[in-house]
Amino acid sequence: MADSPIEYLPLHNQVSVVTGSSRGMGAAIARRLAIMGAAVVITARHAEGLSATAQSIRENGGQCEAVPCDVTNLAQVEAVGRAVEKKFGRIDILVNNAGIGSMGRKLWEFPPDEWERVMSTNLRGPYYLIRTFAPMMIRANSGHIINISSLAGKNPLPNGAAYSASKWGLNGLTLSVAEELRSHNVRVSLVSPGSTATDFGDHSAKNESKMLSADDIANVVAMLVTQSANSFVSEVNIRPTQKP
Ligand SMILES: NC(=O)c1ccc[n+]([C@@H]2O[C@H](COP(=O)([O-])OP(=O)(O)OC[C@H]3O[C@@H](n4cnc5c(N)ncnc54)[C@H](OP(=O)(O)O)[C@@H]3O)[C@@H](O)[C@H]2O)c1
Repeated sequence: MADSPIEYLPLHNQVSVVTGSSRGMGAAIARRLAIMGAAVVITARHAEGLSATAQSIRENGGQCEAVPCDVTNLAQVEAVGRAVEKKFGRIDILVNNAGIGSMGRKLWEFPPDEWERVMSTNLRGPYYLIRTFAPMMIRANSGHIINISSLAGKNPLPNGAAYSASKWGLNGLTLSVAEELRSHNVRVSLVSPGSTATDFGDHSAKNESKMLSADDIANVVAMLVTQSANSFVSEVNIRPTQKP
């Protein structure tokens, strides 16, 4: 019989990093991992948004560190790596969730600097995070990386070609690095959500009550990180039951 019920939490003693966790899916995923017992390092560009997530985690008894970080900036990502190494000396779960959409324009009308912003955030960002944290996981011979893609990375998205391309690219990156890390006992999973009711983009043409919620995506992440050590769920596509 254990002394404390906390020892039964499935992620007790684990350390997680969730990018883009000031709101939306990232905040829901961070809250869920904390409830499951993991220490959570939350990151986003704006510190004020992070403090609301941090507060809600701590109010529920969770452990949380908020570190502002722009995923497009390698020096800032590496600083998060050093902070995690110093405070915890390990990382068990990395969720690459930070992302931006930029829809509503034909590709030939899409500004080059906006193309750069979308690609840097959605594709370069996960590369920088994996570059920073994979060596710690390899050293520990364990870990789980979860990349939040989109069903727009599986289908054409007219008036959203740059976003769609960034997510198709992320899928290729994810499936490839998953093979590189498998022999190190590190699992890399791809989660591709459909329309989810967050502040992301313009959902005005859709019925929000039928859309996925941020908690639905957190459920998927919770399922992935509680698989037995010898099983690896490499991809999850999640869509609303009824078309919104
Ligand atoms: N909502 C949907 O319908 C939907 C569907 C499929 C996939 N997705 C994907 O799901 C992920 C989360 O989306 P969401 O709906 O939760 O969006 P959201 O509500 O707009 O939240 C995005 C988060 O990412 C952060 N972020 C943006 N740019 C960043 C950067 N350069 N560096 C660090 N953090 C950054 C934002 O905080 P700051 O602004 O403070 O940086 C915020 O915390 C994204 O990858 C998105 O592509 C969304």
